[in-house]
Amino acid sequence: MTPPLPPSRDAARRERVTRRRRRTVATAAACLSAAAMLLAGVGIFAGAGEDPSYAAEAPTAEASSTPSASPRPTSAATTEPAAPAFCTDDVTEAANAGVADALAEAAGGAEALREALVDGDASDCVDLADPTAQWALVNKRQSVDPIDYAPSVVVPATYSPVGGQLVPDAAGALDALAQGARDAGAGEIALSSGYRSYDDQATAYQSQVDALGAEEADLTSARPGYSEHQLGLAADVVACDAAGCGTIYDFGGTAQGAWVQENAWRYGWITRYVGEGTSETGYEPEPWHLRYVGTALAEAYVEGGYATWEDFLGAPAAADYE
Ligand code: DAL
Ligand code: ZN
Repeated sequence: MTPPLPPSRDAARRERVTRRRRRTVATAAACLSAAAMLLAGVGIFAGAGEDPSYAAEAPTAEASSTPSASPRPTSAATTEPAAPAFCTDDVTEAANAGVADALAEAAGGAEALREALVDGDASDCVDLADPTAQWALVNKRQSVDPIDYAPSVVVPATYSPVGGQLVPDAAGALDALAQGARDAGAGEIALSSGYRSYDDQATAYQSQVDALGAEEADLTSARPGYSEHQLGLAADVVACDAAGCGTIYDFGGTAQGAWVQENAWRYGWITRYVGEGTSETGYEPEPWHLRYVGTALAEAYVEGGYATWEDFLGAPAAADYE
């Protein structure tokens, strides 16, 4: 379980969550009607394959405090300028808004942001546990917080046989990704599973336990309260053609899967669970499970050759529940 935050940060986070919820409710209504119109035009797909996981700050140079009878030239050691603080007003404002691209821009770039996160210079203003933030970290050491958190979500225009939902920015980014694949001639992509509530995840996890046993289930499905799907920022995708859609397990071997592996970052998505990351995430590879982090961080993630979001953020490995 996540240790409780000090009261002041906890209160600040609650306020941010409330503010952002108000904002997303307004955009959700507009997105919903647009998505409904688009969905009505998508009739070519038969049901997608079953998703078993669904169905199934910087130190400052210290000034000399030695009293002095008369002014004297200051030595080089006492005049060294302090490193500028990372958490400026602009950065703090962007962090409170939860939008990763805006935060990266305010921080002077994605790499500058990443370095500040890794060095601990961002800890006063960037909350990795904020469930409304696009950079939120959820893994086997860090539950969704609060554990029953539920975002405001919308149905993307991208075909979803189960009416899958995502938070609005992620929904728009999935639509852009699906259109990108189509334009590149890679084929059609559908959303097999997006937002899952705590209860949905409990059902999904239990079905995996029933089928595989708890040990195996923990390699493929998050326990309730520990899934990125509960943030509305994760999308399990499948490949479709005129005959229908494949399963999530087919996806990695399809033209769509190959295209996504190369291009998803352009639309703000990363492949969250890859083979090299299993020892840190505790999950086997899931080429179908995309995580929205915004285009700036997704580009830095891919350019830096990271295998896990934990590594990118400088967070500890989370192969096991604590
Ligand atoms: N399948 C991923 C790990 C989830 O359940 O969130
Ligand atoms: Zn998933």
